[in-house]
Amino acid sequence: MQNFDYCTPTRLVFGKGVIAKLPSVMAPLGKRVLMTYGSGSIKKLGLYDKVKELLADYEIYELPNIQPNPKYDPSVLDGVRLCKEHNVDVILAVGGGSVLDCSKAIAAGAKYDGDPWDLITYKVKAQAALPIVDILTLAATGSEYDAGGVISRTETNDKIGYIDPLLYPVCSLLDPEYTFTVSKKQTAAGCADAMNHVMEQYFVEDSTLLNDGFCEAEFKSLMTNARKCLANPEDYTARAEMMLDCTYGCNRILSLGNSPSGWPCHGIEHALSAYYDITHGEGLAIITPRWMRHILNDRTVHRFVKYGVNVFGIDTSLEPFEIANRAIDATYAFFEEIGIPMHLRQVGIDDSRLDEMAHHIAVNEGLEHAWAPLSEEDIKAILVASL
Ligand code: NZQ
Ligand code: ZN
Repeated sequence: MQNFDYCTPTRLVFGKGVIAKLPSVMAPLGKRVLMTYGSGSIKKLGLYDKVKELLADYEIYELPNIQPNPKYDPSVLDGVRLCKEHNVDVILAVGGGSVLDCSKAIAAGAKYDGDPWDLITYKVKAQAALPIVDILTLAATGSEYDAGGVISRTETNDKIGYIDPLLYPVCSLLDPEYTFTVSKKQTAAGCADAMNHVMEQYFVEDSTLLNDGFCEAEFKSLMTNARKCLANPEDYTARAEMMLDCTYGCNRILSLGNSPSGWPCHGIEHALSAYYDITHGEGLAIITPRWMRHILNDRTVHRFVKYGVNVFGIDTSLEPFEIANRAIDATYAFFEEIGIPMHLRQVGIDDSRLDEMAHHIAVNEGLEHAWAPLSEEDIKAILVASL
């Protein structure tokens, strides 16, 4: 078991009607608020009006139109400018992972005199960040309970995961009812994203029995509840369980004491989103089974056997490689069942830039250090198999 040093300082307030706690959560943080959101879903939900009503005596500035795969320019830059111009005290992020991630980069940039890109690329270590409160509307990324944000810069095809303990939200308000309106596409993509977060922590060299059990329960809960959410988008229990599954999925609690993973599928997917602006969870679902098949060998097979037996109930009397291959097939079949397009061509990616992307990933993602190390040739082979 590996040493670790762990603290998640975020307060989680979970359940029906928790929005009522917003004023008391915000009160100690200051009166000047930057409210960040996406392209309109929060207005349809009535959440925009509700926030305005609850914070009627606050000075609220707004940053709307944050896009999926949030962009450095204009969103992060505009948000930083607004915070500085109005001497903002606290950021209130209302939306999905993209709104939260963008808000985290703004929170750090607002306290830095130089170009915020210096912070995102770790050229300079942030010394401070504005506090962030969020109201989550989409179960997927776990950004509400982690210290990371992923920011895209279109002109350089960069999509960078920026992690700093300063970026943990102070408080996340999680009402599953706000996720009732999430489309089937985004519900499935959110499930695939969270499934992959768990896989990135499960497929490692050393793990504990406790973590393996947590992860296996996560896989089963995510699959069961995603099916229920797709069948009945207003199934409160299923939306609630899925929301919590996703919240736990990405904040390291599932892998404390494990050896590192390298998060290979995320490393590959970030380039797909950077080059083609695809939905993160769909990219992951496409890559994952091809990555599994590519790295399956005598050294790795035992993890796939455990996964296959404990998650999919595959017969233990079969040969290890047979169990592993059936587990990979079952993973693919689940993503297909929940409606995810399972080929890169179906999401608009052809073979014209695979070499360039493989090179970009190999240079920027450090996947030669992953549990199953990936060279540029390996990455290219996984991309080709995903077409
Ligand atoms: O823009 P709006 O109108 O809000 O619409 C959004 C968007 O079109 C919509 N949506 C959100 N809540 C809704 C809703 N539609 C109807 N009803 C609701 N209640 O859903 C669309 C997608 O939203 P987005 O925030 O992009 O989705 P998600 O939460 O999946 O976030 C994806 C981003 O998070 C990053 C991804 O790379 C991607 O950029 N990630 C962040 C991580 C982190 N911070 O730890 C980890 C992940 O691995 C991931 O990389
Ligand atoms: Zn992810």
